[in-house]
Amino acid sequence: MLEFYDRHARDLPWRGPSATPWGVLVSEVMLQQTPVNRVLPVWTQWLDRWPRPADLAAESAGEAIRAWGRLGYPRRALRLHGAATAITAVHGGAVPATVEELLQLPGIGEYTARAVAAFAFGARVPVVDTNVRRVLSRVVRGVDEPRASATAADRLEMSAYLPEDPATAARFSVAVMELGALRCTAVRPDCERCPLLGRCRWQRAGSVAGVAKRPVQ
Ligand code: ADE
Repeated sequence: MLEFYDRHARDLPWRGPSATPWGVLVSEVMLQQTPVNRVLPVWTQWLDRWPRPADLAAESAGEAIRAWGRLGYPRRALRLHGAATAITAVHGGAVPATVEELLQLPGIGEYTARAVAAFAFGARVPVVDTNVRRVLSRVVRGVDEPRASATAADRLEMSAYLPEDPATAARFSVAVMELGALRCTAVRPDCERCPLLGRCRWQRAGSVAGVAKRPVQ
């Protein structure tokens, strides 16, 4: 998985060495319901305009909504504004590093808290989004029936595979996400180029061919 990530991962600015915890937090909220290509320009504008949480907290919530553009689900702009305000008031302007503290921020849920702890701070915590749920369902359980939303069961399952070293664990998590985005897609998965093909229960169960024949949507 790590080799797959090194060779094939998309080069996204919130993953690079210059990304700040605030940049990671903004990206994770934007990416929850909007595809990468639409998030990219808005994320760049937000980080240029509000490079630190205190910069956004100093603006009205209406400005955050306006700058959300057409990403959809604009309540997320209010959630980021609320989180920036709390980070500024309670944490002296620095995004907190632990899942517990992140969960205390308004508008930050289980997924975002874990994603920020892992990707911004290298914490060894399972990060499970839609893509990861689909990969777990297929590869580990051998069925194409992802759980409806990330549950403790998904996180437990993912924990079993996390490498010991925390920074490597974070890279592993984003590698599984990328596999779900680039190979183990919901429609027409590219199993032939999947690094997990040899250990995939779904492949062994013979289900891949059936899905490959599904009409493209
Ligand atoms: N990299 C880190 N988190 C991501 C996400 N949610 N979507 C796409 N790329 C990511």
